[in-house]
Amino acid sequence: MLVIIKHPLIEAKLTKMRSKDTSHDEFRKNLNEIASLMVYEILRDYKTKPLKVVTPIGIETIGQALDKEIVIIPILRAGLGMTNGILDLVPQARVGHIGIYRDEKTMEAKDYFFKIPEVAKDSYILVVDPMLATGVSSDDAITKLENLGFKNIKLICLVGVEKGIKRIEKEHPNVDIYLVSEDTKLNENNYIVPGLGDAGDRIFGTKGK
Ligand code: URA
Repeated sequence: MLVIIKHPLIEAKLTKMRSKDTSHDEFRKNLNEIASLMVYEILRDYKTKPLKVVTPIGIETIGQALDKEIVIIPILRAGLGMTNGILDLVPQARVGHIGIYRDEKTMEAKDYFFKIPEVAKDSYILVVDPMLATGVSSDDAITKLENLGFKNIKLICLVGVEKGIKRIEKEHPNVDIYLVSEDTKLNENNYIVPGLGDAGDRIFGTKGK
């Protein structure tokens, strides 16, 4: 299922991120803030368990506690730019990391790092990568997680295009995809149009502004 999360605050922050004049610190701040707003919506279907507490006036009441583990898995390196924003809302989450780069000649995904927490297979797995372009990296990461037996995987991106969306929907029909914008297309260099440029460079300030 594809979900496009719409909210005026998200729209304004995304527009700021799209501007080539936005500095890396502002870009990173807005990305983390959007990630927080997204995860608030995404965890709406999260199952809770009853929890009994006693209030300061001595009254026992039944509330709710988070039940299953939540694991954030940023795809390196741009996914790191959304991780703190999610941790702000879900501080108890564990964090795994998957390092993948795309071989520009063969277009195949090549892995260089894979470290996932030891958690139950029905944990909530949030794979994060701001740009869903060709879908090669996300497809590869999700395939590895599914092969390990994880059943409850969500893919959280910022912007995506049809090519990447279709790939994930076809290869991983049980994985929900969350975006804040479906952009127009990929250009000849596989950059998203209008997009945000190279998300990793913009988050970490490795090129230009
Ligand atoms: N990755 C990026 O960082 N930007 C794009 O536009 C596409 C993939």
